[in-house]
Amino acid sequence: MKKVLMIVLLMFSGFVSLAQGVPTDYLSAEFHKERREAVREMMPANTVAVFFSNPVRNRANDVNYIYHQDPDFYYLTGYKEPNGVLLIFSEDQKDQDGKLYNESIFVQQRDARREQWDGKRLGAEGAKNVLGFKKAYEGSQFIALDMDFKEFDKVLFFDFKNDYRNTGEEADLFNLIKAFKVKTDYPSDYNPTKQKLYSMIASANAENSREIVETVRKYIKYYKDLQKDPLLTGFASANNDGLRSEIKERVNLMLKSNNLDSAIITEIMNTLRETKTTEEIKLLRKAVEISAVGQIEVMKAMHPNMSEAEIQGIHEFVYKKYGSEYEGYPSIVGGGNNGCILHYIENNKTMVGNDLVLMDLGAEYHGYTADVTRTIPANGKFTKEQKLIYDIVYDAQEAGIKASKVGASFQAPGTAAREVVTKRLMSLGIAADAKEARTYFPHGTSHYLGLDVHDKGTYQRFKANTVITVEPGIYIPEGSKCDKKWWGIAVRIEDDILITEDGPVNLSAMAPRTTESIEATMTAPSPLDDFVLPGLD
Ligand code: GLY
Ligand code: MN
Ligand code: MN
Repeated sequence: MKKVLMIVLLMFSGFVSLAQGVPTDYLSAEFHKERREAVREMMPANTVAVFFSNPVRNRANDVNYIYHQDPDFYYLTGYKEPNGVLLIFSEDQKDQDGKLYNESIFVQQRDARREQWDGKRLGAEGAKNVLGFKKAYEGSQFIALDMDFKEFDKVLFFDFKNDYRNTGEEADLFNLIKAFKVKTDYPSDYNPTKQKLYSMIASANAENSREIVETVRKYIKYYKDLQKDPLLTGFASANNDGLRSEIKERVNLMLKSNNLDSAIITEIMNTLRETKTTEEIKLLRKAVEISAVGQIEVMKAMHPNMSEAEIQGIHEFVYKKYGSEYEGYPSIVGGGNNGCILHYIENNKTMVGNDLVLMDLGAEYHGYTADVTRTIPANGKFTKEQKLIYDIVYDAQEAGIKASKVGASFQAPGTAAREVVTKRLMSLGIAADAKEARTYFPHGTSHYLGLDVHDKGTYQRFKANTVITVEPGIYIPEGSKCDKKWWGIAVRIEDDILITEDGPVNLSAMAPRTTESIEATMTAPSPLDDFVLPGLD
């Protein structure tokens, strides 16, 4: 009976979602709530964390770029609109009625006229009913909020990037941030790095003092504006413990007058977002599989008189067909020498000809992005030189994937891949030594992947349920020091690897990766073979 009821319920929910015609596989409200709980657990006592929505960015005149939520804000709320603020408290707070709460959200107010032009808004009621917040208000109530932020030991927040505009609307991001700055006495010269170093100095003791001096020295050498701070330069150059404790006292006074902190929340979000939950892995897997299908369809459709933009269009059409909302980053399609530009996004070559085509694209599905690269010969057959270079990159990638194990250092895949590339480029006479080999493989091999293409993480030893890319490459631009026959060859192979206790799992394995399987796939017919458009004058 229970089973029958279940089936009826499932059919009904399927019917409802079909009737509405919108996807239903978003992250759940429970996921976001549980993530807020995880943040709270990592917050020091008597602190508040304040998060802001991403700014709306202007494209030109009255047209804005498509809005994209700040990934941390999305991770913690599910809210997709601009002009939002989230507060998470380390302990329960009391509201005016004496009721306890430990988080609240402030969102855009409903506005029939604006919604007619720009689309539906959730409003405070929606934030309660859909996102599951018990305390949800309009942005204007954040501006009016009577809360003494000085009462907290620390106010955790990400510093602002100054890329938001004053739109003239009452509770736009400009006014929300302005209100935050007034409430927290935000100093006009606030510098999160300086604040972080002050906190480190405040924690100095006999054991860690040496290490902290070294860190402060490194920072002030790199960030010139920190050299103007007498406390930092004083601590870095102090030659006795007495002087160091005197500076520590003065730093403590400075910290008391300003409880803003950007280092703790950075550490918390890096730690949480590095490893993925089951719900997240499901969405990531989908984004990656969609991207792999895009690569397969392009392999089938590719011919030498295609343009880079047309190839890009096929990938992106496949993404849309599977319900991906965006590309996770601007698509890279580089024919021949264009592939040597690592983030080439002009994609304006009108014919790829007989060159290799490097295609680095990723679908974004419900916030999670893939990042997959395949490099294929436009005419379906690798030349001898192209294959020699391709196979080095392939072997380097294999070594990198094998090294992507729980407990290994984040650098392990890069070290393994670079060793293969260096040795083989030297044996082919393309590079004289490791330093020269590096000029042909000038980037890192891995980054975390998730809500951001270059996702947040700690860059410490690998943990289970982390997703990374393994993406070695060899790029030999025209005019390089080696034999001309190698010029214009650019190869990158990039796969998305889920690190598990049982070893690495290649989520993008579906997209052919060996020269043989690529060539075989390229002989298969494509539905686009018959897609012929009329010529234009
Ligand atoms: N698509 C950017 C990267 O591979 O990191
Ligand atoms: Mn990448
Ligand atoms: Mn990439």
